[in-house]
Amino acid sequence: MTQGGAHPSPSGALAPPEGFPLLAHEAAGEGGLVYLDSAATTQKPACVLEAVDAFYRTNNANPHRGAHRLGGAATEALEAARRDVARFVGADADEVAFTSGTTCALNQLAYGLAGLLRPGDEVAVSLLEHHSNLVPWLTVAKLAGAKVRYLVPDRQGRVPDGEIDRAVGSRTRIVAVSHVSNVLGCVQPVERIVRAAHDAGAFVVLDCAQSVAHLPVDLHALGADFAAFSGHKMYGPMGTGALYARRGAASALGPLLRGGGMVEAVFEQGFTFKGFPAVLEAGTPNAAGAVGMAAAARFLEALDMEAVHAHGEALARRMAAGLAAMPSARLYGPGPDGAEERCGIVAFNVRGVGADLAARALDRRNVAVRAGAHCAQPLVRHLGAEAVCRASTGVYTSERDVDRSLGAVEAARQDAANLMTSAML
Ligand code: ALA
Repeated sequence: MTQGGAHPSPSGALAPPEGFPLLAHEAAGEGGLVYLDSAATTQKPACVLEAVDAFYRTNNANPHRGAHRLGGAATEALEAARRDVARFVGADADEVAFTSGTTCALNQLAYGLAGLLRPGDEVAVSLLEHHSNLVPWLTVAKLAGAKVRYLVPDRQGRVPDGEIDRAVGSRTRIVAVSHVSNVLGCVQPVERIVRAAHDAGAFVVLDCAQSVAHLPVDLHALGADFAAFSGHKMYGPMGTGALYARRGAASALGPLLRGGGMVEAVFEQGFTFKGFPAVLEAGTPNAAGAVGMAAAARFLEALDMEAVHAHGEALARRMAAGLAAMPSARLYGPGPDGAEERCGIVAFNVRGVGADLAARALDRRNVAVRAGAHCAQPLVRHLGAEAVCRASTGVYTSERDVDRSLGAVEAARQDAANLMTSAML
């Protein structure tokens, strides 16, 4: 099996892009792809593709259901994957349930904790949230007659201490915040938020969808009660993810999906549930996906998450510095020199050019970025924009990629200027 790329490539990437079959294919020609959309989904290393393939070729059977040899092998593969994924985020295996991704896990958490909410209670979220960590809370709060309160970030995109003190109090039952903003890449003060929430007697839910791919994450050390993350943003397969529940907190959570595999006993007029995590895993699990997600976790461990963080942060600062030096570019969130912790995500616009047009101009130069509101409309509105471009790096991104994308931003501005001039002639 191909191992994680612990050796930096000559281009300066942390993991050689050649170890990612799609990138190897795309880079075959002159001016190969610069993929700066890793916050939407990462490219997959060969070791992940091989792990998924190997599961179907050698272990495929329904886990936890077959008394036969293959059923046992599939069960062992799934449970080994759970151990690897749990270790990767500083948790124990019996604190991790597999889900189809962060959205599924956050919906499970919102509906599973909704029973705690009474009229007048509050759920505190930040204005930085992805819709997945906002719409489910808006829904369950409304059903319960509770209210959603917002922690407002500063200009760098970080929630200040004063906001935590203002928004978290005696009415707060749940605090649900992202660890790292998917738009701005800034790291939130989650230890401080967890302390304030626990002082108020509230549960804390962390959306770790972006952080697990960029930072060392130790959920026991952070002290969160619940967390959600996706496999596909951390170099694993799409349709995979996990829900973490701290031992002791899991019993507060009711299951969203009901069916086979999550019940202890079923009678004509009732049933009893299994304990966590089985209670949240109704139906046949995506065992091959879980095995692929575990391979991705091992791949990142082999690279060392401290090194992954340093790499993404350096690339983000280089990108931000290049944009800050361009009068035509507008940067959002942390600046290039700020002291705040950040990840390899940078949001910007090209003055006078819509974000979508700018992203298309970059695409013509084979630079892939995402444009839009990034499923975070309240934040993008707060930034005073309708849409922004977002460049997001991965372990395969090099300084050369960042420099090529900066050149493409400048060229996009020039394209727009030329278009205006020809329209006026
Ligand atoms: N949630 C993903 C993003 O931020 C899709 O782009």
